[in-house]
This record gives sequence, C-alpha cells and structure tokens, in this order.
Amino acid sequence: MPPAKSPTETTPALTRNQFLTGDAVEVAKSLPDACVDTIVTSPPYYKQRDYDSDLQIGQEKSPEAYVERLKELFTELHRVVKPSGAAWVVIGDKYVKGELMGMPWRVCFAIKEAGWILRSDCIWHKPNAMPSACKTRPTTDHEYIFFFSRSKDYFYDADSIREPHVTFSEGSKMKGGRKHFGKRNGTPEKGKNSGDSNLHDGRWDQAFHPKGRNKRTVWSISLSKCREAHFAVYPESLVETCIKATCPEDGLVLDPFSGAGTTACTAKKLGFDFLAIDCNEDYHKIAKKRLSEVERS
Ligand SMILES: C[S@@+](CC[C@H](N)C(=O)[O-])C[C@H]1O[C@@H](n2cnc3c(N)ncnc32)[C@H](O)[C@@H]1O
Repeated sequence: MPPAKSPTETTPALTRNQFLTGDAVEVAKSLPDACVDTIVTSPPYYKQRDYDSDLQIGQEKSPEAYVERLKELFTELHRVVKPSGAAWVVIGDKYVKGELMGMPWRVCFAIKEAGWILRSDCIWHKPNAMPSACKTRPTTDHEYIFFFSRSKDYFYDADSIREPHVTFSEGSKMKGGRKHFGKRNGTPEKGKNSGDSNLHDGRWDQAFHPKGRNKRTVWSISLSKCREAHFAVYPESLVETCIKATCPEDGLVLDPFSGAGTTACTAKKLGFDFLAIDCNEDYHKIAKKRLSEVERS
C-alpha cells in the first residue's frame, strides 16, 4: 500500500482573488476541498440569453438537462465549501407559451439533492422591473434568492444584516416603547404576557434591538445596469447582504458564474477575497476593469 500523503501533497495551494476561465463544473473540480466560505451567484437562466461560449449552461435541449448540469456543479461546490459555509443562488423564472416553467424551484430541489440544506427562499422584489404587455396574469417583478448551508452548523451573522424597525416610524403606536431601545428584560407591555421571558426576548428582538429587526425574506432592490456587459447584472446591495451574513473575517467568496464581476467587486469592497469563474473571457475583462475601479477608489 502506498504511504499516506501529507495534507500539503493532497491539497493544492489556492491563490485567492483570481478570475478563472472555463466551464464552472470543470474549474470547480480543480479547487481544493473546503476552501470557500460562501458562494453568491446567479446562474444563466434557461434559454434566456446566449453567452457566446460552447461551454455555456442554459442552452440545453431540455429543462431537465439544464437542471442536471447545475446539480453536477452544486455537487462539486458542496465539496469546495467549508462545512460552516453557505451558498446564495439568485434565479428567475420563464414563461413558455404563457405557462410558467417553475425553473427556480426545479433548480432549488436539484441543489438540495446535491447535499445542500435549504435555509430560506427569499424574494428579490424589483421596484423598477420592466413593464409587460400581458393582461391575463400579474406582471412579474421578482426573482428568488435561495439560501443554502452546507451543514447544520453554519456561519450566519444575523446582526450584520438587520433592517430598520418598522415600529419606530413617526406616529407609530409602538413609539412609546423607545425608552426600551437597547435594553433587554421587558417590553413596555403589562398584562397577560408580561411574565413570559421568551416572548419578551422575541419581542425585544423584533421591536427594540438597537441594530434593527431580523432580516426579512422580501428584499426590495432596484435592478442595476452595466452598459458594457449587455445584460442586467445583479445589484451590489443584494450581494452585500449575502456576503455580510455568511462570510467570516478573512473569508473567501466564490462566484461560479461571475459575468461582469459584481460578486468579486462587492467582496473586495467589504474587505473579503474572491474567486470568480466564467466561461467567457470577455466578461472577465469587464470584471477586471470594474475591480480596478473599486481598488482605485
Ligand atoms: C447571469 S450572468 C451572471 C451575471 C453576474 N451575476 C453579474 O452581476 O455580472 C451568467 C454568467 O454565467 C456565465 N456562464 C454560462 N455558462 C457557464 C459555464 N458553464 N461555466 C462558467 N460560466 C458560465 C456567462 O458567461 C455569464 O457571464
């Protein structure tokens, strides 16, 4: 039997802050085990856009074949992410002859089958979504943001992404509770629940936590445009929320479908490292230009 390899022999060294070109599945196979803290990505949607590469995902003959390729990728990514790691997947749906395909959930179930644990299905509400001419159904103005963890024990910094309390608006009936702001042990109420410390703790978090209330699952964020990329990139503030919540200090963020490099730029702005994969070198050129602007500012 050959002698056991030392960890340095089995684990190739990983250079951070790289743009890697190739098929995401093949590039992921070349990455070491458990090296990434969090993944933030938006895969190519099924039959939505041609990214001008023989390697691209999204142009498969059937939705099943498309979902299978993403499942293969997320199986590999499960190995690449640390046991404490997470993945955020932003994905929209598509109508074919007036019928909604349900692609986000098909992809979501495939990622679960690849071993990931689904933690949240968040809605990205787009206040500036394109108007549509349809009169037989509501106009779509949302996509999904699926949040997965690799294991039961995962890094999640809820405090870093708290949102403003709605109860503190002017004229709010809860305004009188301001004196409890920042102090645990008791909400303003008296009466039947006053002795229930669990309830009080929950309410305190909900209404009086000094950093705001726990992040909700509907995120209202306007679409951003990147003139050079010729497609809508996802907004930095969306990516920022995902990274802040799931990337620990000195963490590494991976985007296997980097496009114009929004994930890489946001990671760097927040002081984290990144790995960006794309099958089309032209998009990496745009991403590198955007990143150099971030580094100059
Ligand atoms: C929806 S765009 C990502 C946009 C990105 N979130 C941004 O903000 O710029 C999807 C990207 O995936 C890339 N892509 C498609 N198939 C791929 C594959 N098999 N491997 C790696 N990248 C791929 C495309 O070239 C495209 O840049």
